Amino acid sequence: MKYDIKDIKLANDGARRIEWANQSMPVLNRIRDRFKNEKPLKGIRIGACLHVTTETASLMQTLKTGGAKVFLCASNPLSTQDDVAASLVKNNKIPVFAIKGENNKTYYKHIHTVLDAGPHYTMDDGADLVSILHSERNELIKDVRGGTEETTTGIIRLKSMAGEGILQYPIIAVNDAQTKHFFDNRYGTGQSTIDGIIRSTNRLLAGSRFVVCGYGWCGKGLAMRARGMGANVIVTEVNPVAALEAAMDGFTLMPIRKAAGIGDFFCTVTGNINVIRKNHFMLMKDGAIICNSGHFNVELDLDGLREITTTTKALRPHVQEHVLKNGRRVNVLAEGRLINLASAEGHPSSVMDMSFANQALSIEHMVKRKKPLARDVYPVPEKIDRLIAKEKLVSVGITIDKLTGEQKKYLASWDLGT
Ligand code: ADE
Repeated sequence: MKYDIKDIKLANDGARRIEWANQSMPVLNRIRDRFKNEKPLKGIRIGACLHVTTETASLMQTLKTGGAKVFLCASNPLSTQDDVAASLVKNNKIPVFAIKGENNKTYYKHIHTVLDAGPHYTMDDGADLVSILHSERNELIKDVRGGTEETTTGIIRLKSMAGEGILQYPIIAVNDAQTKHFFDNRYGTGQSTIDGIIRSTNRLLAGSRFVVCGYGWCGKGLAMRARGMGANVIVTEVNPVAALEAAMDGFTLMPIRKAAGIGDFFCTVTGNINVIRKNHFMLMKDGAIICNSGHFNVELDLDGLREITTTTKALRPHVQEHVLKNGRRVNVLAEGRLINLASAEGHPSSVMDMSFANQALSIEHMVKRKKPLARDVYPVPEKIDRLIAKEKLVSVGITIDKLTGEQKKYLASWDLGT
């Protein structure tokens, strides 16, 4: 079996951490138990480009238990957990091509290696796999029946491919399931981003000014958790509705140009490019800390920052100090890569449980469909979303009410008024 990982000797550490994650993934575990008997993915090849974490390992094991042959590469050069990669190779015989800190050349080589397997389905986080498949490996598309996409950024890219008529096969937008973005994007990003900032800096958040750029689901979660740590949270937005929501949630709103001179911490979570630019870095206070928790490192204009940097040095792992032309120092965390996965371990398992249950069930749904979907981006079927919510509730011992017959009738009627 071919693979490319850091060190196979790390496998035992990885196996123990995967076991730990699994304990908080009851919904995925139930799917795995069913897959073991039913083998719904028998004979299916899946090419996966995901963050190689303990939670992803549980998903890979589930797909393999369902009969699939899976091939895994990283969806970010800095997010791979090398012990997990080793365990998947050694203990599960899953080919993994991912090394934490790999350069861009190796990152793309690994994507190509996964594509070499000739996948029937792609499972992507950020749409790099799909993008390379369409732009450089078009000859393989004839065998591809469908795919799934994990994240907001990937869905933006895929919808633009579909809009231009380029997308060659159907993709289910896992991110848009309610049991994904309500929980993973909000509570997962909220907690894991704070975790990454603290692990890399060990700085106190209480009393600081913490600037959150973007108030989507991830931004909401981050702002909420930064406030919980005692920070004074400032939100920057371009969408008037999201800005209003942030204001009514009690946050201070202002343009980044103004926030730049005030903030102690800055974190981008927008999915957009060059949100913090050269002129903003120049306005920052001495010692400002800057990071990104969006999918790509393009949210910070790092080229612009280099142009105004006189000297730079690493002060701690994942903390790069830049001395600017104006003599002030700013610190960039984790090379502007997603801080929650580069400096911490990503979202906690119990939210990834729902995200990855959506992944497993969406693939199963496509495999079992009699009539294939047309080339487009589709939502996760509502039935799957609700099933996952129900199972999660059961797993945490929460019971809820059911509509009475009278209530159902009322909801379906129009004639009963005041
Ligand atoms: N994305 C964010 N957190 C993650 C995790 N723990 N595993 C895989 N993908 C993630």
